Amino acid sequence: MGKIIVIGSSNTDLITRVERFPQAGETVEGKHFMLAMGGKGANQALAAHKLGGKVKFITSMGDDLNGENALKYYQKEGLDVKSSLIIKGTPSGTATILVDDNGENCIVITPGANNGLSPEYVTERKEEIRSASLLLLQMEVPYESVIESCRIASEANTNIMLNVAPARSLAQEVIRFVDILVVNETEAEIVSGEKVIEVGEQAVVDKLLALGAKSVVLTLGSRGCIMKSESEHYAIPAFKVKPVDSTGAGDTFCGALAVGLNKGWGWKDALVFASAASAICVTRMGAQPSIPTEKEVEFFLKKYQSTSNSIH
Ligand code: RIB
Repeated sequence: MGKIIVIGSSNTDLITRVERFPQAGETVEGKHFMLAMGGKGANQALAAHKLGGKVKFITSMGDDLNGENALKYYQKEGLDVKSSLIIKGTPSGTATILVDDNGENCIVITPGANNGLSPEYVTERKEEIRSASLLLLQMEVPYESVIESCRIASEANTNIMLNVAPARSLAQEVIRFVDILVVNETEAEIVSGEKVIEVGEQAVVDKLLALGAKSVVLTLGSRGCIMKSESEHYAIPAFKVKPVDSTGAGDTFCGALAVGLNKGWGWKDALVFASAASAICVTRMGAQPSIPTEKEVEFFLKKYQSTSNSIH
């Protein structure tokens, strides 16, 4: 099995559980506070690592306490972060997260050192990117660095999986690099320029394929996901679970999907594995504390398959 390289953000998440989100100018009382490691890059890297992938994570942190704690935590988890950048005198990334009683969240990120993960630094890591079999990217580091990572990977035929989160528009030159484009509805609309409500989900996916992505996975939350490429097309329903906190569920999905595809599994198996991993994540608080292990996902799938036949 080849290596998965994840290039992306690392944050410290400050998570408060609230009954409902406050309005502008309003103060509400939180029910519970939790500090945990997060960041879309780090969440996806840790998910891929815990779910059985051989992972290298390249991120950027400040030389502050949050950065130190994050590094120690990743080292303890056995995640390879040796090629990460430490920027002196810059705060590490943080995310302030509110989670309401429905398990929905509101997130404000302050990128700090994540913005220092420059294209020049990516170029310095060229050989590591070239030697990986899959590159996994998100949009919480500079766009130019995402483009540079794609350029290097595509020259070396390293598979590129891009999760366009947080949502932003992409140049067609960038979409053409992408082997696996993973988007939720909002992200799909921004990248495609089409509205789901006007043209439907399938047409939005078709537009993303027409723009040059080789395959597209559209995640639909509790409704599951759709995958389409030139030769394959799947609609996978979501596992029914009681939601506690959806933070990190999309990241867990991406990390798990990367592992399945990188192991050479077929699309259907990889998508079911990813759906199961993200379903477990939704039942727990926080992003990284909620990421299941490979064994937990296997157990979940066995238990689910013995009690239900709703996956076709
Ligand atoms: O996707 C969830 C993540 O978004 C959180 O961990 C937070 O850090 C933000 O990056």
